[in-house]
Amino acid sequence: MEKILVTGGAGFIGSHTVVALQESGYEVVIADNLSNSDEMVVSQIKKITKIDPVFEKIDLTCTKDTVRLFEVHKPDAVIHFASYKAVGESVQKPLSYYFNNITSLLNVLDGMRHVGCERIIFSSSCTVYGIPDELPVTEKFPRKKACSPYGNTKKISEDILADAVYAAFHNDRELPLKAVSLRYFNPTGAHPSALIGELPLGVPNNLMPYITQTAAGIRPVLNVFGNDYNTPDGTCIRDYIHVCDLAEAHVLALKYNKVSSFVEMFNIGTGRGYSVLEVIKSFEKMSGVHLNYEFAPRRRGDVEKIWSSPAKAEELLNWKAYRSLDDMTETAWKWQLAVLSA
Ligand code: UD1
Repeated sequence: MEKILVTGGAGFIGSHTVVALQESGYEVVIADNLSNSDEMVVSQIKKITKIDPVFEKIDLTCTKDTVRLFEVHKPDAVIHFASYKAVGESVQKPLSYYFNNITSLLNVLDGMRHVGCERIIFSSSCTVYGIPDELPVTEKFPRKKACSPYGNTKKISEDILADAVYAAFHNDRELPLKAVSLRYFNPTGAHPSALIGELPLGVPNNLMPYITQTAAGIRPVLNVFGNDYNTPDGTCIRDYIHVCDLAEAHVLALKYNKVSSFVEMFNIGTGRGYSVLEVIKSFEKMSGVHLNYEFAPRRRGDVEKIWSSPAKAEELLNWKAYRSLDDMTETAWKWQLAVLSA
């Protein structure tokens, strides 16, 4: 049984990935500092899979603690989620974003080298493409200047991995390093059990938690940012992907074991875009709740439309998204109701 270290494993995407890993027969060690998650998530994971993941509360910006983590657990591979992820906050606190996201990646790579661990899956984002020149977006598209320090940490992390993989490939005395970077489009939805899901701190920035909180009466109204875009209904288009489909991509990426001189990048999206109004319509249909929304000015920095070509992940990872937009809105709502009644 392979042992996988999942950093940030108590978070939204991390926790769903831990479930998918355990269900595929992997042994999991979660490392999380709980800065944006709750230890209760670990027991919720156990309720779903009936397997206790090992949990280590650790700050990966501490080199000593990170090396100790690797020495104690000697993982076969790492899935590295742990990072700060709020775009707006990253503009307010850039240094804290650069320090946290970059230092933790460097420490994880150092820990891996320490114990001879060769495989890492990195959690990247479609934000690296900026405003794309064409659609759908393929992995061959150039990366653009990042719109936020958060986005820049993803770009820099991909560059660090690229240099580390290249050096390991060309230096006989180094261990090979096999790195996969998964570029997520818009992760949403929740586990169908409603035992785990997204737990945004404070006022949500992302669309789906804002929708569910508005429907639940926590927020008075959803502002739809812009209805004058060059799209069929005037609202922005995104490639929303169910978090359980996303989680399965990580399990398949672990099996992708090719030694090469570069980092393999994969788009993880459905290949289909939906507008904000289409998401709202799906939500109202699946929840039976009328949503109070109004049109508001465009949000600064928003891309008009973006969706992926997931063809490369389909071909090389044998991965495909199966869940629909209705599955996403339905599970997100079920999760919101579970949080309310907890
Ligand atoms: C953002 C991040 C991206 C990150 C992703 C998922 C930016 C530029 N990008 O993407 O890096 O990977 O979240 O965490 O911030 N909307 C409303 N009202 C709301 C909230 C959102 O109309 O209250 C609209 C937005 O204008 C957008 C769509 O919903 O058109 C999706 O927004 P959001 O969920 O914030 O994701 P992104 O901005 O695409």
